[in-house]
Amino acid sequence: MKLVVAVSGASGAPYARKLLDFLAEHGPRHGVSADLVFTTTAKQVWAQEIGGSPKYPFKIWSNQDFTAPFASGSSMYDAMVVIPCSAGALSRIAYGMSVDLVGRAADVMLKERRRLVLVLRETPISLIHARAMTQVIEAGAFVMPASPSFYSGPKTIDELVGTVVARVLDRLGLPNELMQRWTGLSPKSAEPVEEI
Ligand SMILES: Cc1cc2nc3c(=O)[nH]c(=O)nc-3n(C[C@H](O)[C@H](O)[C@H](O)COP(=O)(O)O)c2cc1C
Repeated sequence: MKLVVAVSGASGAPYARKLLDFLAEHGPRHGVSADLVFTTTAKQVWAQEIGGSPKYPFKIWSNQDFTAPFASGSSMYDAMVVIPCSAGALSRIAYGMSVDLVGRAADVMLKERRRLVLVLRETPISLIHARAMTQVIEAGAFVMPASPSFYSGPKTIDELVGTVVARVLDRLGLPNELMQRWTGLSPKSAEPVEEI
């Protein structure tokens, strides 16, 4: 699988880190090669939320470098994830604003009918965001809000982050154990709920 991972300037750099850590460790075993692109704000948010700058064994492209292979449909990339995806990046993608490499690469994914996953992080959601979400969903993208789940009993922030990234990896068809899967109520929680 040839994968593009784009990181934009929404809060949620730990989601990007978790995905990139997984790909660095397990990607080769699954035949995944990744190309990275960070928006300018993504680097600032990464420094704020994690510290320093991202270091990975993948090629990192400038967000203004339209010579990247995945800026063209002929390069046959399989999938792209924008994680986290800012409301701005969502809106640019929704309306085909290929003004940066992230926007162009997403535009290519949609026109080539390839997998595009947008891990949107914004709250509250305005009508503009809702319409942009509808537009990208209609065009074939997956919008996966960065909304962690609790039913697997995460104990740490890292495990909570894992509940989001696990589902992103699911969309990419990459087996992972970043969260405990739902297998039904545990015997304890299956006890009758007390009336209140
Ligand atoms: C610390 C920090 C946190 C931010 N969090 C969000 C967020 O959660 N969602 C969002 O849409 N924008 C957020 N922003 C604003 C975006 O960075 C801003 O809209 C920027 O233009 C997005 O650019 P990009 O899409 O090119 O990365 C945040 C900015 C900073 C500095």
